[in-house]
Formats: sequence, structure tokens, C-alpha cells
Amino acid sequence: MIDRRIEKGQLRNAVGISYNTMVKLEKNENVALSVLLSICEYLRCDFGDIIEAVPEEKSSPYYMAYENRYQKVFAAGEACWGHSPSDDALIQALSHWVADNQLKGKKIIEYACGEGSCGIILSKLSCIYHGVDIAPSAVERASLALAGFPSASVSRLDMVNECVNGPYDAALDIMGFHMLVTDDDRHKYLVNVNGSLKSGAPALFFRESYRNDAYSGPVASFDEWKRISGLDYEIPEPRKVGQSDIVVNIPLVPARAKNKADYIAEMEAADFVVDEFIEMDINMHCSCSASIYVHKK
Ligand SMILES: C[S@@+](CC[C@H](N)C(=O)[O-])C[C@H]1O[C@@H](n2cnc3c(N)ncnc32)[C@H](O)[C@@H]1O
Repeated sequence: MIDRRIEKGQLRNAVGISYNTMVKLEKNENVALSVLLSICEYLRCDFGDIIEAVPEEKSSPYYMAYENRYQKVFAAGEACWGHSPSDDALIQALSHWVADNQLKGKKIIEYACGEGSCGIILSKLSCIYHGVDIAPSAVERASLALAGFPSASVSRLDMVNECVNGPYDAALDIMGFHMLVTDDDRHKYLVNVNGSLKSGAPALFFRESYRNDAYSGPVASFDEWKRISGLDYEIPEPRKVGQSDIVVNIPLVPARAKNKADYIAEMEAADFVVDEFIEMDINMHCSCSASIYVHKK
């Protein structure tokens, strides 16, 4: 376009490209072949002159989307966006889990810890806590939130591609597993969780997105998931943040619901034994969710 002295608006009008497609082009994201063909016809060039194939892993992984969300809601003045340390259902579930598995004084790893609310709850229950999350803004918030608890720590980690230094006595995940949409990422993550635990140790996956009619087929890439789910993750979703009346345009984040049988099959494929699968009531965090209690074989 620079060579031909063509402005962005001129190309858009001449080829008839929608606003959303133009945004995708600017972000080096996938668009329909017919759009590329129209651009080639207009510019009188070939595909190779305007596109390049870049393997997905070279770009930021889709599950980094939460960083964007955290930045927007924190910039809007929100103190805590995810679970609060005073969430009654969460406190009750964790209190029972800690008591049932005698985890007082034991080392617990939380994957996808977000802003560290569970670190506060588990520290108050006298557990030794380490939380990990891929989003730098969340890790920063969690470190601040946990500053007053000497047995709690937090660090940045991609739970799909990196392992923690274990072994831990128990593992926890709250609405983190469902952010992984490809079969491969999900399996790699569960294998990492299993590998971080002592033999026979419990793990709790709390409030994971669950639906009886969830798509049951394979998902090999995020692009495939976008086609299957029909969701456009580019269009910001206006949402009220927290208790305040502030409404912010925040991007949708990837999430993949599963049905009960598929959750159980995934757990078993990663060498977990499923002890309990509990359907949760509709709540402000997730309209259809389940908590899965497992232990390492
Ligand atoms: C729905 S939020 C839940 C946060 C927190 N557990 C809570 O309940 O408030 C999902 C979290 O998963 C984190 N996440 C997604 N993919 C991840 C990955 N590959 N490694 C580590 N954290 C990840 C996101 O950054 C985000 O903080």
C-alpha cells in the first residue's frame, strides 16, 4: 500500500472490507481467503505479496487474553476482578477440602491463581501456598494481596508449557482449566498438574465451565475453536466491573465447556482418579459450572 500510495480507508472502500476484518488484518490475524483475493485483485499482486504463514506458537498464545482484561478492569479502578477472598461458596469448599484431606500445614499449588484470593483463604486455613498465573498484571496484584502472609508466594508461569518445582501435597484450579481450548493444551496442563503432586495427592478443579450439551469433538487449534464456537474474540464486550457501576469494554476470553463424561475422560487420561463431580448452582462467575475432585493415582 505504501508503494502504491494507497491509504487504509481507500483500500477498505475499494475492496469493501468490514471494520472487523480490517482490524484483523492490522493485527496479523486470519481473514477469509475471498478477502485476500479481492485485495490481490485491487492491488494487482499475488497472495505471497500480502500474506505470510506464521506458526501459531510464534505469536502470543490465545490464553494470554486475560492479561488484556486485567489491564482494562484495573485501569477502570477495580480492586479485584476474579474471585474475592470473601466468596462464601469458595471459603466453604476450600475449608472442607483442606479438612477432608488434612492439608493444614501442607504445600498447595494453585494454577491460574489470578489475583491470589485463594492464597488468602488457604493461608488463613494454615496452608503453605504457591500460586502461578500467566498474566503479569494478575501476578503483580496477587503478590500485593499476599504480602501479609509469610507462607504464601506467587510467580508467573505458563501452566501448559512450564512445570513447577514440586512435589506439592495438593493442587487447586479455579476457572483456569476451562480457559484452555485445544485438546493438546488441556492434556499437557493436566499432565503438568499430575507431575507436580505427590502420589495419591488431591487436586480440586473448582467452578469449571460445564454443560451437558457441550461440544464433544476434537479441537486442534484456537482458530478451529473460534469456528466451532462461532464467537468473535475481537469484539469488546461492555461489562459492569465488580461492585461498582463502571462499565468497561473488555475483550471476550476463550473458554471451553465440557460435559461430565468428557471431563472424567480427560482426568483419567492424565492419571487422575475422579472422586466427585459436583454440579454448581448458577453464580455470578459462571452460569453452568462443576467442581471436580480428583486425586493422583
Ligand atoms: C477465569 S480467570 C480465574 C482466576 C482466578 N482463579 C479466580 O478465580 O479469580 C482464569 C485465569 O487463568 C489464567 N491462565 C490462563 N491460561 C493460563 C496458563 N497457560 N498458565 C497460567 N495461567 C493461565 C489467566 O491469566 C486468568 O488469571
